[in-house]
Amino acid sequence: RIPLWLDCDTGHDDAYALLLSAHDPRAELLGVSTVHGNAALDQTTFNTRAILEALGRRDVKVYPGAAKPIVRDAVHAADIHGESGLDGVTLLPQPVEPAVADVDYLEAMHRALIATPPNTAWLVSTGTLTNIGLLFQKHPDVARHIKGLSIMGGAVGNRFTDAPMGKVKGEGERFGNWTAYAEFNIYCDPEASRFIFSHPVLRPKTTLIPLDLSHQVLGTQAVRRSLLYGQRAEFDVDTTRLPSALRALFAQIMAFFAGTYAEVFSITEGPPLHDPLAVAAALYPDIFDDRDGERFRVDIVTEGVHSLHQSEVGELGRTKVSALQPGEGGCRIPRGVDRDKFWGLAEDALKRADAV
Ligand code: BDR
Ligand code: CA
Repeated sequence: RIPLWLDCDTGHDDAYALLLSAHDPRAELLGVSTVHGNAALDQTTFNTRAILEALGRRDVKVYPGAAKPIVRDAVHAADIHGESGLDGVTLLPQPVEPAVADVDYLEAMHRALIATPPNTAWLVSTGTLTNIGLLFQKHPDVARHIKGLSIMGGAVGNRFTDAPMGKVKGEGERFGNWTAYAEFNIYCDPEASRFIFSHPVLRPKTTLIPLDLSHQVLGTQAVRRSLLYGQRAEFDVDTTRLPSALRALFAQIMAFFAGTYAEVFSITEGPPLHDPLAVAAALYPDIFDDRDGERFRVDIVTEGVHSLHQSEVGELGRTKVSALQPGEGGCRIPRGVDRDKFWGLAEDALKRADAV
């Protein structure tokens, strides 16, 4: 199995990243660290523990990480996930134990990752990159244990696909989902992001899942119904069956996210489920498509005003990508994903979680 550490800011789509990390048969979940982002750190930590409780994985340790970016103030996405980071979710269980971390998160990540054989572990980031940036600054020896770093983040525009990007009500098409250019995770901590994307050892090990990719995987009505009732969309779904408590919880999570995307971005087909794609890219890299092994350099814009308001004008947090030649150590940015296989992973994980 693949040793995997998940760093997340549990909001609605991070919950699905936890589902795959906790119950995919290929994953050996070493631990989870939480970061500021969708909501304040104590909230994202609580949400993470509650989701793991629902998933029957109370055994997985959760380590609260950074409460703010390396040099800036924290920004939260209440418009998207609500103040709690998991608004609209009434079926969330209370985590049973109080949050007692035995060691600091950087120490825990370091210990867990250097205990894996060199070049084997995957680090998956579904929040902003503060914790991961600090980890490699403080413990550079971790890099040689990492086989891959999979990051949900960035907005590279429509240059790779014709997929529609997020739209903000009343505005035209835009690159980013937080500002016109910037995606939220990268925007929150552009300095940490720049450090990671320019890291000579990590860059060739990095897979980036930007918005144009995540917007190809929408939680449509058919997807939501089949996950709720545990049957694939192509079959007749027997809606008289009582869904499990876990499936009802995950349906509620997706329903709130669908409401947000309809309201804020006018995307009514279903919400893009960004974060679990980063887990899938670590465990099943082959279900993603590239063009001829292409690799990229990613530059992060770190100049500009950082504000709480998503309509900020400017390029702060923009991810600028350029193609690199083989051997120049670029990161992977897939262009597409096999949607059916991806939803199949979510269904299999729910089935396994239901059996716990
Ligand atoms: C990313 O931002 C967060 O709101 C989501 O959880 C996801 O990680 C999408 O831009
Ligand atoms: Ca997230």
